[in-house]
Amino acid sequence: MTRLYEDDAELYDIAFDWDISDEADWLVERLQATIVLEPGCGGGRMLEALADRGCQVVVFEADMAHFDLARTFDGAVCPINTLLHLSPAELGRHLHRMAQHLEPRTRYLVQVGLVEAGEVPSAGSHWEASRGDTSLRVEWVDEELDLVSGTSRQRSRIEVLSGPRAGEIVEEVHEMTAWTPAAWAAAIAASPFEESATYDGGRKGQWPRVDTTATGGLLWHELHHASPA
Ligand SMILES: C[S@@+](CC[C@H](N)C(=O)[O-])C[C@H]1O[C@@H](n2cnc3c(N)ncnc32)[C@H](O)[C@@H]1O
Repeated sequence: MTRLYEDDAELYDIAFDWDISDEADWLVERLQATIVLEPGCGGGRMLEALADRGCQVVVFEADMAHFDLARTFDGAVCPINTLLHLSPAELGRHLHRMAQHLEPRTRYLVQVGLVEAGEVPSAGSHWEASRGDTSLRVEWVDEELDLVSGTSRQRSRIEVLSGPRAGEIVEEVHEMTAWTPAAWAAAIAASPFEESATYDGGRKGQWPRVDTTATGGLLWHELHHASPA
């Protein structure tokens, strides 16, 4: 696990603390759930937004590919490409674990970017964020993409511009899985879920429905748990 998710989670929380209220409204509408599970919730920014909208939320500490909470939920979310941290085999195990924890006919909304061979790589994301005295300059770039091995290397760089840690730079490399639409469709077909809809989460304030073959960095996949696990 990287420093950004552990010792420097405070910087991650500031860097990713943008307004997610519209997205949380949209998720609550899509989920139609009262008790929601979010695996890989980090500091809990989405869980907090869902709780503000009346959902009961559950936090647990475990590996997303191996957990047993001995209970079920009626919806689940996993935003911002968290599942790209899992290898294809781990994703398969994760989806089986999720199916065990979700009631039949409920939804698991996952945000996972898909990329097609030959696409021009994005220039990455660059933004500034602040909380209290602390302000940050953040860069998150795709450094290498290999669709044959299904891997990508992303680099994050957080420069602390002001506050108690001013002058520090936290730079890390994240080894992630890269999914093409075809590989993702095959992974879902082999899981207990069906993808009932795909939405483009990359357009501010809008979540247009797109084809399951669409590519994009912030696609939301609505996974439908059709049968008891
Ligand atoms: C991109 S962050 C997203 C955090 C949060 N969902 C959000 O929206 O800000 C990915 C999170 O997944 C967690 N994570 C990565 N691999 C994991 C695994 N195998 N089991 C549990 N959590 C994991 C990391 O610790 C980190 O908190």
